Formats: sequence, structure tokens, C-alpha cells
Amino acid sequence: MKKVLAFCALGAVLCWTLGAAMSEAELEKRMKAAGDHMGGLRKAMQAGSMADVATHAQAIHDALKGTEEFWAAHKAERAVGWTKEGVDAALALVAAAKANNAADAKAASGKVGAACKSCHEVHREKIGENQYRIKW
Ligand code: HEC
Repeated sequence: MKKVLAFCALGAVLCWTLGAAMSEAELEKRMKAAGDHMGGLRKAMQAGSMADVATHAQAIHDALKGTEEFWAAHKAERAVGWTKEGVDAALALVAAAKANNAADAKAASGKVGAACKSCHEVHREKIGENQYRIKW
């Protein structure tokens, strides 16, 4: 157990591989990162800057990827599904942006947003200005 904790201090990635459940604090960190890049993504889409779209979509993918473990550990199956949809849509968005395909990028970006929204409607509760908590 001590070894697992030492590994966990090195980074969350090692923790998942060791099977330790993701903490709520880590989930929140990932959400904040996803939110920041979602803002960047919107601007990049409006500006039609596909290079920036690819960068933000990749960061959103990286933030979401792995959080399905958190939901799976709590047996929240629908949340696992929405997370996977978001991860897949973010990857599709990276590919579309790199191919400079604005129409596909628009469709994929809509799917990313829909995945965030679906889960937030069910599992996110606003408790103050810019403050949220998990709702089960
Ligand atoms: C499977 C569920 C789920 C998905 C998918 C999901 N979220 Fe969240 N999100 C939550 C929950 C639950 C909270 C509230 C708890 C928290 O703040 O960590 C949250 C909180 C947030 C917050 C507020 C963080 C804070 O505390 O300040 C932001 C921003 C956010 N999500 C952005 C996103 C974006 C952007 C996406 C899609 C790319 C996304 N989320 C996808 C469940 C999800």
C-alpha cells in the first residue's frame, strides 16, 4: 500500500494503472482543465483557426480521458457512457481539425458539448458562483 501511495504522488496516470480510484479532487481538476479548454475551443471555432481547435480538443480529450474510472468506481454507468462519448468526440474533433475539415469539426464540437451537458444536467449541482459539486 505504501508503494501505491508513493506512485500516486508521481501522478494520477500511475494510479489508474495500479487500480486506485480517482479522487473527487482529481475529477474537479480535470473538469476545470476541460472547462478552460472548452472556452479556448469556442474562440478557435469562431475564428476558424483549425490549429488551435486541434490543440484545445486534444487537451479536452486528455482531461476527460480516465475520468470514466471515477464514475465506474461509483457504478454511475450513464456517466461512464457520457465520458466515453466526450472522449471519442474530442478525438474526432482533433482529426477533423488536423484535416482542416470545418464541417466535421463543427459536428464533432457539438458532440463534445453535448456530452459535457448531458452529464452536468444529471450529476452536477451548482452551489455558488463558479462552485459545483457532484450530484448522485
Ligand atoms: C460524466 C460526467 C461529466 C462529464 C462527461 C463532464 N463533466 Fe464537467 N463536471 C461533472 C461534475 C459532476 C462536476 C461537479 C463536480 C466538480 O466540480 O468537480 C463537473 C464540473 C465541471 C466544471 C466546474 C469545475 C469547478 O469545480 O470549478 C467545469 C468547468 C466542467 N465540469 C467542464 C466540463 C466540460 C467542458 C466537459 C466536456 C468536455 C465536462 N465537464 C464533462 C461531470 C461531468
